[in-house]
Amino acid sequence: MANPRRISNPINTEIPIHNTQIYPSFHSQTLESRFSRLKLFFKKPHSFPLLLSIFLLLTWIFLKIHQENSQFPSNPTITTKRFSIDENQDRDADANIIRFSTGFPSLITKDNRGWMLDPVSIALDSGISGGALICASIHVGEIKPGGLRGNHRHHTCNETFLIWGARTVFRLENSGFEKGYAQVTVGGDEVAVAVSPSGSAHALVNMDSTRSTFIVGCQDRVITHNNSNSDFNVWEDLNS
Ligand SMILES: *[C@@H]1O[C@H](CO)[C@@H](O)[C@H](O)[C@H]1NC(C)=O
Ligand SMILES: *[C@@H]1O[C@H](CO)[C@@H](O)[C@H](O)[C@H]1NC(C)=O
Repeated sequence: MANPRRISNPINTEIPIHNTQIYPSFHSQTLESRFSRLKLFFKKPHSFPLLLSIFLLLTWIFLKIHQENSQFPSNPTITTKRFSIDENQDRDADANIIRFSTGFPSLITKDNRGWMLDPVSIALDSGISGGALICASIHVGEIKPGGLRGNHRHHTCNETFLIWGARTVFRLENSGFEKGYAQVTVGGDEVAVAVSPSGSAHALVNMDSTRSTFIVGCQDRVITHNNSNSDFNVWEDLNS
């Protein structure tokens, strides 16, 4: 009564017994001999090139996977939610910005050592007016991928910016546009000088997935940012 199936169908019970008794032992014998032959092979010096190739192949696969993963934005919700940068590109002049290629040769890269410039005199020379002509205070910083800086309006200082390092959106208040601002994207291999006159809002967003944006902000008056001299969170779409 313990197993009624075994009684009613004896063929069913015999086949599994054959399977478990014969096949596994046959199987493990060949496996074992193959394994010991493999062990012997790997002990010999001429197996070294093969081992090295396997190691290199695994390293290559690992690096490939790692590279593909890092192509996706580390913070996709921030970079995609805010805005589409491609549909919103204005003229550099409307955003008070001038840009240079970091490659050699260019206006800012005169030899192979790299680029060097004076943002205040560049702004003056290129006719983008309204920035700081002297630096009473200087802010130097990094914006990580997906990060936002600014989105504020200072009423008591003019500002001149230097921006480089990553694909970065620069937005400047401009009443000549229905939307109220001009917006451009600085490329990852460009250096840009931008000016924001006293009373105009500005914002910077790093659109890059891996690289950091670096900024230098020169202000012509030392101010403690507070609600009496500045407006904060000017554009709501940047904060969402
Ligand atoms: C800012 O620039 C304007 C001219 O563009 C100038 O009149 C003013 O003194 C500058 N500095 C401050 C702190 O507003
Ligand atoms: C805001 O900062 C300015 C200096 O830029 C200072 O004179 C003023 O007292 C500050 N106001 C408040 C409310 O802290």
